[in-house]
Amino acid sequence: MCGIVGYVGGQCALDVVLAGLRRLEYRGYDSAGVAVPADGGLAAAKKAGKLANLEKELAARPLPSGPTGIGHTRWATHGAPNDANAHPHLDNPGRVAVVHNGIIENFAALRAELAERGHVLVSETDTEVVSHLLSEAFSSCGDLAEAMRQVCRRLEGAFTLVAVHADDPDVVVGARRNSPLVVGVGDGEAFLASDVAAFIAHTREAIELGQDQVVELRRDSLDVTVTVTTFEGKDAEVRPYHVDWDASAAEKGGYDYFMLKEIAEQPKAVADTLLGRIDAAGSLSLDEVRIPGPVLREVDKVVIVACGTAYHAGLIAKYAIEHWTRIPCETELASEFRYRDPILDQRTLVIAISQSGETMDTLMALRHAREQGAKVLAICNTNGSTIPRESDAVLYTHAGPEVAVASTKAFLTQLVACYLVALYLGQVRGTKWGDEVRSVVRELSDIATQVDEVLETMEPVRELARSLADKGTVLFLGRHVGYPVALEGALKLKELAYMHAEGFAAGELKHGPIALIEEDLPVVVVVPSPRGRSVLHDKIVSNIQEIRARGARTIVIAERGDEAVRPYADHLIEIPATPVLLQPLVATVPLQVFACELATARGNEVDQPRNLAKSVTVE
Ligand code: F6R
Repeated sequence: MCGIVGYVGGQCALDVVLAGLRRLEYRGYDSAGVAVPADGGLAAAKKAGKLANLEKELAARPLPSGPTGIGHTRWATHGAPNDANAHPHLDNPGRVAVVHNGIIENFAALRAELAERGHVLVSETDTEVVSHLLSEAFSSCGDLAEAMRQVCRRLEGAFTLVAVHADDPDVVVGARRNSPLVVGVGDGEAFLASDVAAFIAHTREAIELGQDQVVELRRDSLDVTVTVTTFEGKDAEVRPYHVDWDASAAEKGGYDYFMLKEIAEQPKAVADTLLGRIDAAGSLSLDEVRIPGPVLREVDKVVIVACGTAYHAGLIAKYAIEHWTRIPCETELASEFRYRDPILDQRTLVIAISQSGETMDTLMALRHAREQGAKVLAICNTNGSTIPRESDAVLYTHAGPEVAVASTKAFLTQLVACYLVALYLGQVRGTKWGDEVRSVVRELSDIATQVDEVLETMEPVRELARSLADKGTVLFLGRHVGYPVALEGALKLKELAYMHAEGFAAGELKHGPIALIEEDLPVVVVVPSPRGRSVLHDKIVSNIQEIRARGARTIVIAERGDEAVRPYADHLIEIPATPVLLQPLVATVPLQVFACELATARGNEVDQPRNLAKSVTVE
């Protein structure tokens, strides 16, 4: 949450910072602001609302520019999303500017202390205390990085901070604790950002910052030096890495929205996530999972922790893990997990699923699990992010950058990664024979083509979505792995269309939710394959009849050729036949398209739904 950019180099800092903020706007869009040291002073501008408001302000009242600058796009935590609470925050003389992502937990005490010393704080934010503390520290030590270290030692909570000072105009300083910050290293220039997307147009060389580290970017004649230290001032190990996607991957590529582009990219994302993980003989090779075979053979319980859409991927993974490995598996909301004192030990494998790799609830859950001695395997889409760094092992999904706030391609690739982990566990523990593993791997390899087929038949789904734009409620039903798909369909609709949408296990209908059914209420039903476990299929066909008899308008997602369901479907969405456990990979796609089109028809902002942010770095 909140996007941060810092720049030092030969280009116009303001332009670089604004372009970076545009790429980070998905992280928060309550307000935006910039600051540049220039002409012996500090120039700053900030505006409530989206970045466009700030750009308008800058067009009306341009700022001078120099070689250094910082910027921020906000997702509000402390204080309303207005101009005063927008970042950057300045000290009283207006010499230091600070941008911040996270929450400073002891800010009230620090604020009171500053007020006693005569500082006047003008916002309701926790951030503002940092600019005042930095100002004091700089006055006594004359070095912005040292001032930042001194201040960070006094702060509690989670924070990424980036600052500039009018008296040291060639320097940008950053710090991080439990909140993301990466360094981009270009030719004679360097960048700080919450996410590499902010500087990928300039460089693909990056440096990971560790916990409790301060970084200084200092411009010296034509070069820029990057120095990383701990909060205590000791030299820190620098971990450079190469970003393996380029700027075009983060562009809309002709689509109206990132979400549409990301939905369309799913076949490739699924195929890329399988790439290199299947050997010539068709068996699984997950050498990157560094948890040794003997440890995996000892595992007697799997616990999956995740939030939102990633949690839904985890719910589906539970079916595959238990079926293929016979190890008991629980899937739990990361935000609930550590507060209920879960039973964990050395024989528990915890799987943390996260697209961003920065979700605070998931991070806290995995830390708790490791403290209890459990091994943690991360499934993550973001290289070098905190969750994989703090896990024992990681399986990266190769979805590429996901910019739209609503997760789509990340979800499908999380599912693929979960299936791979489940099969791998089965392979290592001998609960799955080699030819069984190879057969599922073959079926997984067919999925990219099947997702493509689904995408090619989506026009009737879009038409249907448009016709429902004035509805208030849509319900979603599913059974078995179709139940988490129903939850995911409802979540997509809530977050994008701002409609009342709920997902239910179809078997629960009679225990309450059926009371909601009324004339013409749209109910989406995810139907399991009539092949395989036909008992599930027959039961859901009865459920469809029950709701239809009470007036529901049934929107049925069913396997092509499923004639038994056709008479009861007011709208039939056909998907390709897949094995039962893999069906979510194709059944989810129409629900993504449905939600995206409904949101568009209702005039909502598809890529940046209200009140949300892509990366939730606070608990
Ligand atoms: C919904 C959505 C969120 C995320 C959740 C976890 O479309 O995107 O529910 O899935 O915030 O985020 P990650 O996967 O980054 O941990």
